[in-house]
Amino acid sequence: MQDILDELESRRARARLGGGEKRIEAQHAKGKLTARERLELLLDEGSFEEWDMFVEQEPNELTADIEPIPGDGVVIGWGTINGRTVFVFSQDFTVFGGSLSEAHAAKICKIMDKAMSVGAPVIGLNDSGGARIQEGVGSLAGYAEVFQRNVNASGVVPQISAIMGPCAGGAVYSPAMTDFIFMVRDTSYMFVTGPDVVKTVTHEEVTHEELGGATTHNSKSGVADGAFENDVDTLAQLRRFFDFLPMSNREDPPVWPTSDPYDRAEPSLDTLVPPDSTKPYDIKELIEKVVDEGDFFELQPEYAGNIVIGFGRMEGRTVGFVANQPMVLAGCLDIDSAKKGARFVRFCDCFNIPIVTFVDVPGFLPGTSQEYGGIIKHGAKLLFAYAEATVPKVTVITRKAYGGAYDVMSSKHIRGDLNYAWPTAEIAVMGPKGAVEIIYREDRDDPAKIEARTEEYRARFANPFVAAQKGFIDDVIFPRNTRRRLCRALRLLENKQLENPWKKHDNIPL
Ligand code: HXC
Repeated sequence: MQDILDELESRRARARLGGGEKRIEAQHAKGKLTARERLELLLDEGSFEEWDMFVEQEPNELTADIEPIPGDGVVIGWGTINGRTVFVFSQDFTVFGGSLSEAHAAKICKIMDKAMSVGAPVIGLNDSGGARIQEGVGSLAGYAEVFQRNVNASGVVPQISAIMGPCAGGAVYSPAMTDFIFMVRDTSYMFVTGPDVVKTVTHEEVTHEELGGATTHNSKSGVADGAFENDVDTLAQLRRFFDFLPMSNREDPPVWPTSDPYDRAEPSLDTLVPPDSTKPYDIKELIEKVVDEGDFFELQPEYAGNIVIGFGRMEGRTVGFVANQPMVLAGCLDIDSAKKGARFVRFCDCFNIPIVTFVDVPGFLPGTSQEYGGIIKHGAKLLFAYAEATVPKVTVITRKAYGGAYDVMSSKHIRGDLNYAWPTAEIAVMGPKGAVEIIYREDRDDPAKIEARTEEYRARFANPFVAAQKGFIDDVIFPRNTRRRLCRALRLLENKQLENPWKKHDNIPL
């Protein structure tokens, strides 16, 4: 009997060694952890159960001389993060560069299928040279099997990708179809075609990092949702992030204990909005002052800073926050911010996460680059996403809510459940000066008259009470009481029921 147990132990030890000591050292020398070391940090201690450790890719004429490595370059299984189930795969760069064969793909598909049937999220740790070159079309088939599951799982279980090494070619499309992408600074990159191909085709000289590193995808392309210093930091932040998410679309988000009183007043909010309405202020200060214990997980912080998105908690329950940021482009909506906001709103709606929206928006960003870039269609994404969302929606207008952007930002008219305004709110078709210059065109050359008309307009329209008189604003609230009002609103809406008409799926302006 002991022989049999020893045999199992030695087979397991062989599989755990992956590509061998030398390649593990090379991985460490690059500042990267191995696939299994990463899982140890991601999951609760002792919770990981590995599957398919002994799977090998069947040899073909190109690989007949290569010794197969048990596990075939990807570690899969399930474990827990703070006690909650998660399915994981972690590509092992020490085995054939983490490249994907049919067997490797089948392993990933196995946990995705199980995650769907059990109702638990999937986290993929990507570190791969792409399709295993020796496998040819078999590996392309494998990718497509994974892609199909990414699509089927979308909106059913949360899917998160961490890019912790190379991720190139068609391989990028699996992470791209997951809900969130985290990247490790300096050691990870994603691109459809690498620097060599770029040079051949376009004659551009560009490094891996410039083309597809964490900085590029977090500040330029908007492909990624977060960039972190190293493997350890990334995995720690993944654990923190996971705690905000529900297990599936069949469940509500988790409730974590909090000692933060729901009615905590924040007198400093009474003076957050500067008296001069052209002066900026930091909307993140508002978010951080209303969420439980100031714990806000911002997504895409370096991209389209004119809109802020992320998760916080109110009375222990996850809430998605969307807020215009007056510090960037005066909080205007543009192509990038509309896309950023829309995708986030849709994630929240898929997974039963209430949305709180803070509004300070002077309108859509004017200009040829926006119009030529399709702001009409991209701006419509945010409008569409808000209008179709059936989760609880609570809106607070802190200052400007002008024009079409007022409608878009979770207004009463697109089924905002509770719409509040601070006394500093200005809800109107446009800002006072612009409005006066159009209505009183004949006075345009008389600054004194324009000034007087502007003041008149400001006094009459640049306030929350015109909208409140019509019931578009449910109440004008004291800024200091915002947390209490939000907590009560979310409590009230906890069992909200609202359904969209039956359809196969909608046709959001993509
Ligand atoms: C098989 C691969 C491999 C691959 C790397 N290796 N990529 N084996 N198929 N795609 C192996 C190497 O032979 C090497 O084996 C080990 O992994 C480590 O690779 P190195 O090159 O030594 O590492 P490094 O210098 O860090 O470079 C990493 C790399 C490079 C940038 C990823 O390996 C590379 O460019 N690989 C090819 C990438 C590629 O073109 N993939 C196909 C893309 S097309 P040994 O035994 O020496 O340790 C694609 C299509 C997907 O993916 C389509 C889906 C629809």
